[in-house]
Amino acid sequence: MVSLIIGSQWGDEGKGKIVDLLSEKQDLVVRFHGGNNAGHTVIANGKKYPFHLMPSGILHKKVAGVIANGTVLDLDVLVSEIEMLQKDGYKLEGKLLISDRCHIIMPYHKAMDEAMENARGKNKLGTTKRGIGPALADKVSYNGIRLYELLNWPQFEEKFKFQTEIKNKILKVFKVKPINIVDELAKFKILMEFIEPFITDTYQVIKKGVKEKENILFEGAHGVMLDNDFGPYPYVTGSNVITGAVNTGSGLPVKDMKEVWAVVKAYTSRVGEGPFPTELSGKLADSIREKGAEYGTTTGRPRRVGWLDLEAVKFALEVTGTTNIAITKIDVLSGLDEIKVCTGYKYKGKDIPYSSCGYVELEKVEPVYEAFKGWQKNIDGVKSESKLPKEAKAYLKFIEKFLGVKIGIISTGPAREEYIKY
Ligand code: IMP
Repeated sequence: MVSLIIGSQWGDEGKGKIVDLLSEKQDLVVRFHGGNNAGHTVIANGKKYPFHLMPSGILHKKVAGVIANGTVLDLDVLVSEIEMLQKDGYKLEGKLLISDRCHIIMPYHKAMDEAMENARGKNKLGTTKRGIGPALADKVSYNGIRLYELLNWPQFEEKFKFQTEIKNKILKVFKVKPINIVDELAKFKILMEFIEPFITDTYQVIKKGVKEKENILFEGAHGVMLDNDFGPYPYVTGSNVITGAVNTGSGLPVKDMKEVWAVVKAYTSRVGEGPFPTELSGKLADSIREKGAEYGTTTGRPRRVGWLDLEAVKFALEVTGTTNIAITKIDVLSGLDEIKVCTGYKYKGKDIPYSSCGYVELEKVEPVYEAFKGWQKNIDGVKSESKLPKEAKAYLKFIEKFLGVKIGIISTGPAREEYIKY
């Protein structure tokens, strides 16, 4: 079985936990896009692991973690995650497999991301400043440098010097300190020696897995509303997030993807700037943010929060060909008198679907809401459907019916065992 887990909102839906949960049965868990702008938290054996690049399923004994070609890599972050796991006794050689086609996020990419955000001033996008956009821009404009070059040191040295000299000229325009070529090359030499044993042809690993009918789980990062084409550009990330990104980001043939799980948080959150039709403010927003611990795993920024936007989620499910839903953080909504759900948008008095909105329209749409009675019972960590209050059941039934896709998992807390098989 080959399956995919995808975020259906603006990221931070709680995908890490669902990947970890479904990983028990997997042979391979594969990252295929994005970079360390993603943050997936996994809690295992009482310990919290905030992963940014490591495939979340890697903590399971039998699972091999693959970082396939579509992922962009900050090698400092990668090495620190490998070291964190090695310190806890995880043996990663032969268990972590990284494609030599992955592009490297260079120091100048991070400097340029930050410089561009600062230059945008009040029009900033709220990027994670991890260099993702500049690294992907270099990739598509043939200026990128891959692990492949890193393993061929003379080529790497030549390309790195050439690119850094040009990027330093650009950084000078922004009045930013230039990158020191000699120092950085020395660092890359050490990083290269550390990660070399993990680098391989991941296409062959996946191909063999499919041939031998292994269970393979593709771990999506971010969320469909951040997709470079289908999100409200430019308030998006640099990657495609939808199902096709698995094909380009790993080489898995499209026909082999059998199951797509969309992770839907019971409300919405977003980090960074840009339109957010169902955004809440004031005390209600503060209480959901605190209860849901809605602070960025990557940047620590407080997340904006709002009601569940089913107009946007419905689009996300359609465009990704979703077959199953995992609902997360339903426990966070306990204690509210009323819970609202957006079921459509009005723009200038007329209905407008999410897909017809650019960022200007999405900023101005008026959400159409359905209101539900809340529940007061604490449902933290509940493991059976029968223990849910009738109001929570009604809320879930409505979501399932509206989206027309079956809910398979309801997560009721951050720990691995806190969920309901639905
Ligand atoms: P970038 O990906 O760092 O360039 O940031 C672009 C936008 O995507 C910003 O609004 C980020 O906050 C957002 N973003 C990127 N990755 C994630 C994620 O995994 N979760 C939530 N937001 C993300």
